[in-house]
Amino acid sequence: MNKMKTEIRRLAVYSSGGDAPGMNAAIRAVVRTASYYDLHVFGIYRGYEGMIDGDIVRLDKGDVGNIIHRGGTILKTARSTRFRTPEGRKLAYEALVANDIDALIAIGGDGTFTGGKIFFEEYGIPVIGIPGTIDNDLFGTDYTIGFDTAVNTAIEAVDRIRDTADSHNRLFFVEVMGRDTGYIALNTGIGSGAGAILIPESSIDVETLIKHLEKTAKRQKLFSLIIVAEGNENGNAQKLASEIRDRFPDYDPKVTIIGHLQRGGAPSALDRLIASRMGFKAVEAIIEGHTNKMVGIQNNQMKLIPFEDAINKSKDIDKDLLRMAEILSL
Ligand code: F6P
Repeated sequence: MNKMKTEIRRLAVYSSGGDAPGMNAAIRAVVRTASYYDLHVFGIYRGYEGMIDGDIVRLDKGDVGNIIHRGGTILKTARSTRFRTPEGRKLAYEALVANDIDALIAIGGDGTFTGGKIFFEEYGIPVIGIPGTIDNDLFGTDYTIGFDTAVNTAIEAVDRIRDTADSHNRLFFVEVMGRDTGYIALNTGIGSGAGAILIPESSIDVETLIKHLEKTAKRQKLFSLIIVAEGNENGNAQKLASEIRDRFPDYDPKVTIIGHLQRGGAPSALDRLIASRMGFKAVEAIIEGHTNKMVGIQNNQMKLIPFEDAINKSKDIDKDLLRMAEILSL
């Protein structure tokens, strides 16, 4: 079921879900590796939306030149609701048949892989996934493409906020992306020397936060930077700031939401490197007959992880890192 013998001749690659810096490097690696193995390569625009619409083009080695350093995705991306329906998937299958495409490489997150898995079960088209999401929330890989760049972008922003926070002795809440997980917030918080980090996995309530701020205030620390993941259970940055404003009128808390700034920009060296390795591995895996698996990187080694696990198992936040971040902030 997860290893097939069919010979692959015509491969299509697409990006789906939220874009992430480094997706282009992965597309380049897929196209160049597939060309090396004499496969015909196609690009599907706008993920599953483009698959349904037959928005498919032939890609040659030259088409992916000069893109390794660019953020976003040259193939565009989308979150497709039509592909969630059997009718949508039937149209997508017909478009693939019309182009004689016999294998897929999907770059995206768990929604992308869920779509690929269902599609394989229904139509038998082998698919290998490449983890592309700034959230870094996929089981089976130490890194997802885009995470490192997003954290670097967020840290750069927090450094700038630190200057003004320090000058005015102000408390700042900085909200970073991550609706379900706090990887970006945790790494941004540690890397920027934050006063506190609030993530969905830690459920720190306002009372605890206040106690923590009081502790740091004892050593005349008059300003503080609090990093909040957008999916924080006990409130987003705006809500927390207004609660603190009520309790500590002197603090004059300010809020910055970094938002989609984190998703853009040139990919970091690490993202270019892992994206290239993942694209290369994905093509070799599909040629070897694998399907329904995600390429991952664990301890600097390339791995194949069943979609089932990548989608359903959770990658837990390292609680020791959270503990360390708290100690370092005191
Ligand atoms: O999954 C990546 C991500 O950037 C999340 O961190 C964020 O919650 C979400 O996408 C935002 O998605 P959109 O740009 O579609 O609103």
